[in-house]
Amino acid sequence: MKKIVVLTGAGMSAESGISTFRDAGGLWDKYPVEDVATPEGYRRNPQLVTDFYNARRMQLLTVEPNEGHRLVAALEERYEVTVVTQNVDNLHERAGSTHVIHLHGELTKVTSSLEPNNPQYIRELSPEEYEVHLGDCAEDGSQLRPYIVWFGEEVPAIEVAADHVMQADALIIIGTSLNVYPAAGLIQFTKSDAQIYLIDPAEVRVPYGLPVHVIKKGASQGMRELVALLDGE
Ligand code: OAD
Repeated sequence: MKKIVVLTGAGMSAESGISTFRDAGGLWDKYPVEDVATPEGYRRNPQLVTDFYNARRMQLLTVEPNEGHRLVAALEERYEVTVVTQNVDNLHERAGSTHVIHLHGELTKVTSSLEPNNPQYIRELSPEEYEVHLGDCAEDGSQLRPYIVWFGEEVPAIEVAADHVMQADALIIIGTSLNVYPAAGLIQFTKSDAQIYLIDPAEVRVPYGLPVHVIKKGASQGMRELVALLDGE
């Protein structure tokens, strides 16, 4: 086996203390998704949305990668690894993963409200700038907005992610309910002889009925078991 793609979701960062979205008490229970993760919500109440992402950004300063993130990073010692994450945190990078594709954007970045996907306007914030204010402007003079893919918006990174999945000898899925497309659809691009592993403490419905090796554990414990399994191959 040479190339591995790791597809991660909110459960990857749960053991670091970041809430998932759809579990009981998850983020979408406390903050209605249509208020804080849609372009319409942003137009309706930009202050609420700005405050929500400011809080998420400040939380990044208080959390650390967990063992699961570190074990994913350590796969690079033996394989060519691409991490495709739905998470907007930076914990994969902080754990040492060097090739991370963020499908849903990044909390540490901001962009133009008019042309959010124009690379010219996407900017990394330093921690001192994590609190964005209404009135702060992008290079094109429009209101700075979070570099987050909201529901109903394009997912520009999906094609390059799909290319990696097509070439992978194994796909490892960790901590995602596979409810959100196109991310969940990536599994259909696996080669017919690719191994698919799924680490999640809950039952997850896998689209397209593809055969999957399920490790029904949390991210850290599940990655420990998977590494042992790969070692034995
Ligand atoms: P969900 O909240 O839908 O799913 C989280 C998954 O993590 C569930 O399957 C849980 O069982 C699992 N989980 C919980 N604790 C875990 C642990 N310790 N270890 C491993 N897994 C654990 O989150 P996502 O599937 O990531 O999009 O959600 C996908 C997208 O929907 C997010 O990127 C976000 C959200 O709305 C945007 O904001 C655009």
